[in-house]
Amino acid sequence: MELLIIGTGYVGLVSGTCLAEMGHHVTCLDINEKKIHQLKQGYIPIYEPGLEEMVKRNVKASRLKFSTSYAEALAKSQVCFICVDTPHQENGEADLRFVHNVAAAIAEHMTDYQVIVNKSTVPVGTANLVSSVIAAGLQRRGVSIDFDVASNPEFLKEGCAIQDFMKPDRVIIGTNKAKVAQIMQEIYSPFMLSHERLMIMDIASAEMTKYAANAMLATRISFMNELAGLCEHLGADINKVRRGIGADNRIGYKFLYPGPGYGGSCLPKDISALRKQADQVSYDTPLIDAVAYVNEQQKQLMGYKIIEYFAKYSGLANKTIAILGLSFKPDTDDMREAPSLVLIQQLLQQQAHLRLFDPVAMENAKKILYAHPAITWCNDEIEAAEGVDAIVLMTEWKQFRFLDFDALLKQMKGRVFFDGRNQYNPLEVVKKGLDYLSIGQKPYYREEVEHA
Ligand SMILES: NC(=O)c1ccc[n+]([C@@H]2O[C@H](COP(=O)([O-])OP(=O)(O)OC[C@H]3O[C@@H](n4cnc5c(N)ncnc54)[C@H](O)[C@@H]3O)[C@@H](O)[C@H]2O)c1
Repeated sequence: MELLIIGTGYVGLVSGTCLAEMGHHVTCLDINEKKIHQLKQGYIPIYEPGLEEMVKRNVKASRLKFSTSYAEALAKSQVCFICVDTPHQENGEADLRFVHNVAAAIAEHMTDYQVIVNKSTVPVGTANLVSSVIAAGLQRRGVSIDFDVASNPEFLKEGCAIQDFMKPDRVIIGTNKAKVAQIMQEIYSPFMLSHERLMIMDIASAEMTKYAANAMLATRISFMNELAGLCEHLGADINKVRRGIGADNRIGYKFLYPGPGYGGSCLPKDISALRKQADQVSYDTPLIDAVAYVNEQQKQLMGYKIIEYFAKYSGLANKTIAILGLSFKPDTDDMREAPSLVLIQQLLQQQAHLRLFDPVAMENAKKILYAHPAITWCNDEIEAAEGVDAIVLMTEWKQFRFLDFDALLKQMKGRVFFDGRNQYNPLEVVKKGLDYLSIGQKPYYREEVEHA
């Protein structure tokens, strides 16, 4: 089928490429001319494992094209997917400006029947908004062209986006028309060969499903982070508690890790948009409000631990701290709402010097942090450890799973390791000669362990 993807970011580029991989003819469109130019030259503007080869293969096979022209792209397509960003506004509401602009551009350029599919995460009622913008645009042009709007929220995860799209847990389609359901079934049929995972429902429920899924995931994280704090105060170990509760198959192990708070382009903004939708219908959401509150506190936790530790050593002014991992999670270069940014601001406020390293997110981090005089950008973890008073692990990239502590210690001035992801066995780190502070476990100090 001829498909058009509007918005060639993390979701659009991955979705378009995977749809092409399954045999569809796909045009990925974006208003960012530089991005489209780069893609046409074979440069992939985002980091996503496996994406580059797949893009190149499908471009070569002429199944995947890139464009900035709505007129040209709409002339060929039967179905277009809206994949533009829906950030939150200052008041927390989803900003639908880009979705609105896309709907207006579709109305301006469409010449034939189209199914317009909302893949962006959008509040309940947005399909109606898209319909009315398109209807108004067509009316202004004085033309009558049939179209349908459906919802198809995306659940891929950055870092394993290709696998998620190629083997989805489920594909949610919101439509009240049998004809649209059939078209969507045809598009997704190559992804359903092992078993049917397509669920057709009304549009409002499909739109809500995406928010409900993200709210549930965020709730698990905040729940674990709250329990982690309690464990520290009561002398329990959250890692052991996690294993204990995860073994219950009603709970399961996934998404049950304490850490420095959730970040990224989805959970924070979707929780905030969901709360705003509830506000608009005067419905209280005390549970979801608490999930967001706990997360805001949690993002500051590593900073507080570091400040408290160095209070014994005349504070953080002129101390140097290495931060390993900047992206909000491993296997992505996405820095949006990354907990590392909160930590960096806290430490800078204390006049600390920072040595930062991330395997792929350095360029995006530099765009946010600019050239700060107290920040040194490093090429690897060993360089980052040079002369530092402490190392903080913020993102659990694979290359930080087996750090060479002997090599790090040779570089370091101080003797403390803050593990924001509970990646290490505390006693082993202490044996290497470092104090070890993590989340939801008691702190381990060298002298206490040596004399125990
Ligand atoms: N990133 C994720 O992991 C993820 C996962 C599931 C769902 N989502 C949702 O998918 C949507 C897209 O997210 P993303 O991370 O891919 O965003 P993104 O910022 O990476 O990409 C959005 C793209 O849309 C383009 N764009 C904006 N206005 C446009 C217009 N009028 N015409 C054409 N292109 C336009 C931008 O230039 C940009 O390239 C959001 O609603 C997000 O919540 C994201």
